[in-house]
Amino acid sequence: MSELKLKGQTALITGGDSGIGKGIALKMAANGANILVNYHSNKKAAEETVEELKAFDVSAITYQANVGDEMQVQQMFQEAINRFGTIDILVNNAGLQQDSAFKDMTLDQWNKVININLTGQFLCAREAVREFIKRGPRPEVSKALGKIICISSVHEVIPWGGHANYAASKGGIMMLMKSMAQELGGLKIRINSIGPGAIKTPINHQAWETPAAAQNLLKLIPYDRIGETEDIGNAAVWLASDESDYVHGITLFVDGGMTLYPGFASNG
Ligand code: BGC
Repeated sequence: MSELKLKGQTALITGGDSGIGKGIALKMAANGANILVNYHSNKKAAEETVEELKAFDVSAITYQANVGDEMQVQQMFQEAINRFGTIDILVNNAGLQQDSAFKDMTLDQWNKVININLTGQFLCAREAVREFIKRGPRPEVSKALGKIICISSVHEVIPWGGHANYAASKGGIMMLMKSMAQELGGLKIRINSIGPGAIKTPINHQAWETPAAAQNLLKLIPYDRIGETEDIGNAAVWLASDESDYVHGITLFVDGGMTLYPGFASNG
């Protein structure tokens, strides 16, 4: 068996109970990481995820918190430190959509998406950075002082009608990630994003659950398959491991080529 890439490290994964977050949790645990599975409302899903993670012989716990709430985020990090000693990896994954035609979009829909998707990433990253600096290096597990992976989207660069709040939040994540990376690289805090394309998860089920919908979606994907959560999990393990130690401040698109403007293949 190949060496475990994240052995002895702890990852805090927001929204780790389903979809992409769960896919990342499974791959990180398979690579030896202990995991805090943050969830918002689905306790049962979080508990089931933790059971699956324990099969990899790592420690795993659930923790309920709203990532958009400063106090809840601070308490969650305190719990992670109490239970695991420290954290080495933050996966800023929690996110949601509240889709609406622009003229009908309510302020609540706007605020909710910005609060969870963007402010939530800020609040969690700030706590992670504070902990990395406070505890100092752990050369026995990683060359970096700590790693942050922001889960963005192809929609940090592809505009998305009917989803202005969501696309704005993801564009914001891009500049949040890059600004943090520029400022904190000197401390050896390594920060990157993953930009998933269409991955089969509950968030976009209507886009792939019928054969007709899936056929339509595939027109946007040059590599001609819809992504799986393990595609993102594999990328996240690499970005969290020392194998990518010189990779800093990038968005790694894992999208089957969705960002290649496939409409131009036969037009323009
Ligand atoms: C969205 C999905 C969408 C995908 C590709 C993701 O960020 O959450 O709903 O299918 O981007 O458009």
